[in-house]
Amino acid sequence: MSLAWRKSAIAMVAAGVLVGSMAACSSERDTGSGSTDSGDAEDMLVGIAMPTKSLERWNRDGSHLEELLTDAGYETSLQYADNKVDQQITQLENMINQGADILVIASIDGTALGPTLDQAADAGITVIAYDRLINDTPNVDYYATFDNYGVGTMQGEFIEEALDLPGGAGPFNLEPFAGSPDDNNAKFFFAGAWDVLSPYVESGQLVVPSGKGPQSNDDWASIGIQGWSSDTAQSEMENRLNSFYAGGTQVDVVLSPNDSLALGIAQALEGAGYAAGPDYPVLTGQDADQANVLNMIAGKQAMSVWKDTRALGDQVATMVDQIVAGDTVEVNDEETYDNGEKVVPTYLLPPQVITPDTVDVLVDSGFYQASDLGM
Ligand code: BGC
Repeated sequence: MSLAWRKSAIAMVAAGVLVGSMAACSSERDTGSGSTDSGDAEDMLVGIAMPTKSLERWNRDGSHLEELLTDAGYETSLQYADNKVDQQITQLENMINQGADILVIASIDGTALGPTLDQAADAGITVIAYDRLINDTPNVDYYATFDNYGVGTMQGEFIEEALDLPGGAGPFNLEPFAGSPDDNNAKFFFAGAWDVLSPYVESGQLVVPSGKGPQSNDDWASIGIQGWSSDTAQSEMENRLNSFYAGGTQVDVVLSPNDSLALGIAQALEGAGYAAGPDYPVLTGQDADQANVLNMIAGKQAMSVWKDTRALGDQVATMVDQIVAGDTVEVNDEETYDNGEKVVPTYLLPPQVITPDTVDVLVDSGFYQASDLGM
């Protein structure tokens, strides 16, 4: 993401906040009667439900959005749910009971919130799905995320280029992984990557010794790692290495949908004797988490797809301002995200590939301090 793009996003937010405050009027705080267009940030409680503190990105997401909204005068309630669906539901029910006007939800299980969102709808609350779509309910008003299919495309194209597959190189041994089966994003990540890679599996340039190459995009969940767990990814990779690579067969490439899986996979590779260098497998990732950027610098991960979570927070804060001001909420995709009940109006942000040669981008943009990355 270019600096110019970030600056324009920040300018848009600033404009949005201004609209919110210019439109301020003297209406009383409305506790759940359904009017989110009073135009006064100070009368509004925004509940922010994040899935877990265990992954770096969600901590950044939560604190950035909370800061933006409190600076703009909103009351906020930020909760993390330890990746436990019941805990997230209880937190949302509490927010509804506290009179939240808007809920921003990064769901744990995108299919588990229907009854809770029925309650939210009865209370007239506007719901924004954050990063992950909420499925099987009409009661989700907007969705803001990164181009999830595009994330997978970037991972697939990176592998394609790194191995010179279009030039006919191969065969290479590939081990593919997918994200958590309960996360709606995971199927988009996999489809984006597999649409690029599966023709090379068919041509024989990519071989999957473990046999864990899904027959079609629809079978992605068969190789999904529940809860995006690093430990589960590590044991799955260890099993594959022990069972299918025992006689000196080398793994050349691992499709990992995100950084938490990539961390576990890198551990398994290290345990099996793979060391950084020209023979280290091409390993993909997503999020540019600090530990993974350090692995990239150390030659133990080839790339990560960076999603500047600050830009997502900026966009969601803009949406909140637009909802509160009674303005049209800006979206840029009204086709892709069908949640089973409706196509949810969506704002899609662009992801960006980071490689060991381009980690400077993360520092130049202020996402990390140079010292965070040992630079
Ligand atoms: C997010 C990814 C993240 C994953 C695990 C997905 O829904 O889009 O950025 O790596 O969840 O938390």
